[in-house]
Amino acid sequence: MNPINVGLLGIGTVGGGTYTVLTRNEAEITRRAGRPIRISVVADKNLELAKQVTGGNVRLTDDAFAVVADPQVDIVVELIGGYGIAKDLVLKAIENGKHVVTANKALLAVHGNEIFAAAQKKGVMVAFEAAVAGGIPIIKALREGLTANRIQWIAGIINGTTNFILSEMRDKGLPFADVLKEAQRLGYAEADPTFDMEGIDAGHKLTIMSAIAFGIPMQFDKAHIEGISKLEAEDIKYAEQLGYRIKLLGITKRRSDGIELRVHPTLVPAKRLIANVEGAMNAVLVQGDAVGSTLYYGKGAGAEPTASAVIADLVDITRMHTADPEHRVPHLAFQPNAVVDTPILPMAEVETSYYLRLRVEGKPGVLAEVTRILADQQISIDAMIQREPGEGELQTDIIMLTHLTREKAIDGAISKIEALPVVKRKVIRLRLENLDK
Ligand code: HSE
Repeated sequence: MNPINVGLLGIGTVGGGTYTVLTRNEAEITRRAGRPIRISVVADKNLELAKQVTGGNVRLTDDAFAVVADPQVDIVVELIGGYGIAKDLVLKAIENGKHVVTANKALLAVHGNEIFAAAQKKGVMVAFEAAVAGGIPIIKALREGLTANRIQWIAGIINGTTNFILSEMRDKGLPFADVLKEAQRLGYAEADPTFDMEGIDAGHKLTIMSAIAFGIPMQFDKAHIEGISKLEAEDIKYAEQLGYRIKLLGITKRRSDGIELRVHPTLVPAKRLIANVEGAMNAVLVQGDAVGSTLYYGKGAGAEPTASAVIADLVDITRMHTADPEHRVPHLAFQPNAVVDTPILPMAEVETSYYLRLRVEGKPGVLAEVTRILADQQISIDAMIQREPGEGELQTDIIMLTHLTREKAIDGAISKIEALPVVKRKVIRLRLENLDK
């Protein structure tokens, strides 16, 4: 049978992995896809590298625009990244009637609505399994495997670099800055680690999952995003004493009045499986009304794990591209005319539990003042510990866990607590999720 022809844009880590796996598993993949999937042209600025990876067996060019215009190419695989030239290339490929596979989470989270609308109009597929959690087939699970469910919430460790850093901070009791340097030395964190550290990368991936879980447009600009750079090693230690681990979670939750969409360091009970996901691994926990909770675990980055997702999309497209567009799996899981504009809730309305650390003077009545403020805001305390003050020390730490409350109530309480003369520094506030229902 005639091969389907792929134009590969970018032959860096993931592009190289895609080429290697497609070549190595060619026979097996053909048996699954029903026809060979052939990379017929590769575009990369670094032609020397492209030659090395492909062994000179494929047509090479440094002009990616020529690939998206090439009449021989059926599917364009975009592995360039970023919102700049990648966006122009994807839109051009769609305009030229090509199907697109992309690993570009930033592009989809920010410009996805425009891209999917263009693809819908042209009747082409845009597949993006590799954009979220690398090799874990979470897009497939959300769009197809869990299609019977009303999805209630998703909580994921969807950035491997920050998970590695948090694991090291906990294991070795080291501060964030030291572990970041180590991660950079090992090649995990990038030289400019902002997207990973500040939660932006996780925010992109969460935005995509939220859209396909709830049938809403991509709304990255409405996501609340906090990273791990301000996290203190002491809080990891106190959380541990209380039976919790701190993870950078992407959380999206359906409520009757809207949808929560947030990335932040989160206390999770240490006994949950997801709390035990260590190092650079990813995991996504999905709660559906019929299935209950399901957990997906695996490598969220790297050449071959990400290639595994890219090739799965290539096989899907190969199987489906002769099908009538109406009968394909919709890009965003829901039929385009059934996408709804449920509001993303502002952070003040988010409901969760909290971890508070207060530096206070060690004298009678301090606790009474603090708990009075919490009681006035209807905030109920779940657990509390007080650090034993050192010899002659006049200040100490009080750590409290609250029951479920609204963010605006905790914010109100914190500003009142910080105004008390017995409270000696800004209150450390972290969010806590039980992830049990
Ligand atoms: N920087 C990402 C991570 C890589 O650390 O998980 C894949 O998106």
